[in-house]
Amino acid sequence: ITSKTVLLIKNSTTENSNDNGLARTPPMGWMAWERFRCDTDCKDDPQNCISEALFRDMADRLAEDGWRELGYEYVIIDDCWMSKARDPEGRLQPDPDRFPSGIRRLADYVHSRGLKLGIYADMGRYTCMGFPGTTLDRIRTDAQTFADWGVDYLKFDGCNSNALEQLLGYPLMSKALNATGRPMVFSCSWPVYVGSLPPEVNYTLLGEICHLWRNYYDIQDSWDSLQFILDWFFTHQDFIQPAAGPGRWNDPDMLIIGNFGLSLDQSRAQMALWSIMAAPLIMSTDLRQLDNAARAVLQNKVAININQDPLGVQGRRLLQEKSKIEVYWRPLVDSCSAVVFLSRRSDMPYIYHTSLSKLGFDKGSYQV
Ligand SMILES: *[C@@H]1O[C@H](CO)[C@@H](O)[C@H](O)[C@H]1NC(C)=O
Ligand SMILES: *[C@@H]1O[C@H](CO)[C@@H](O)[C@H](O)[C@H]1NC(C)=O
Repeated sequence: ITSKTVLLIKNSTTENSNDNGLARTPPMGWMAWERFRCDTDCKDDPQNCISEALFRDMADRLAEDGWRELGYEYVIIDDCWMSKARDPEGRLQPDPDRFPSGIRRLADYVHSRGLKLGIYADMGRYTCMGFPGTTLDRIRTDAQTFADWGVDYLKFDGCNSNALEQLLGYPLMSKALNATGRPMVFSCSWPVYVGSLPPEVNYTLLGEICHLWRNYYDIQDSWDSLQFILDWFFTHQDFIQPAAGPGRWNDPDMLIIGNFGLSLDQSRAQMALWSIMAAPLIMSTDLRQLDNAARAVLQNKVAININQDPLGVQGRRLLQEKSKIEVYWRPLVDSCSAVVFLSRRSDMPYIYHTSLSKLGFDKGSYQV
């Protein structure tokens, strides 16, 4: 990157173009990807394919089964919603067979249920799954299209873009969304494509242009995948923990609770850890067929209240014991704390002793 490019970026970046009052606490909702992927086969798999019916079904469940009242408000479309070609005016359009009513109508439906609609696009020539991407010259058009449709949230991925396009494109999209006048949450997948850490990633800048960002790899439906992500986030907590705050969140990716890969205890662990991490609580499961145990974990009010704590401080890992017990801590409003004890053992239940001083608390009396 030449100094000329850097100059261009400086000139094109508004300060805090994400500062529109949204995502003061981590966003909550539902996203299609982890559970439904790029299933476009509505002929043989009409229940599960990426179609307007799927998103309407999930909006119905969020509105009718107690989710919306708990804060789960965004219904988010991921990849594979688009037609392979733009319309004659160069605008993105949905696949006509799978979204026959169009996104505007879907947004109206989602809004009528008291919810908000998220959508997906990619910096570069193609989306991750090969649908039309958003090159630099298309950014304004696509931002305006989403605003015209009544979209409330954009996940902007970047599989098929290079580092320079990303450096220019993410700030430009932030500015373009702002310029539409429609408040939209902006989720950036930028850091994962440039190595996730400083100096390649400038977390101060991300906090100014994005409401949340995907630091690291996609979660898959397994405890191994969850632990891989968990370890990355807490190994690098000194870099990423200070970046979070109201309006700016690290995103370790979706909740996989309710799917096939986690036991009930592992599901509780994800909910507890994601709450300590001030992570967006974006479910990706089939809400039409969720069992009651998984539902109880995802609707746990204590965990949700911790996650949504208005102080907005991301938690940290305090201890990693030789016994493979780990301790995580998050400060909350009113001098409260949330603490998670996590066993990484694979044998049997284990008795763990702790103390105020071991957890870094002063002597005194505390309510637990
Ligand atoms: C645009 O950015 C300004 C400055 O941060 C902010 O006050 C305003 O609310 C933003 N507007 C939208 C629609 O995001
Ligand atoms: C990171 O971005 C901030 C905000 O745009 C800027 O002030 C700072 O100089 C950048 N840091 C580096 C190391 O480039």
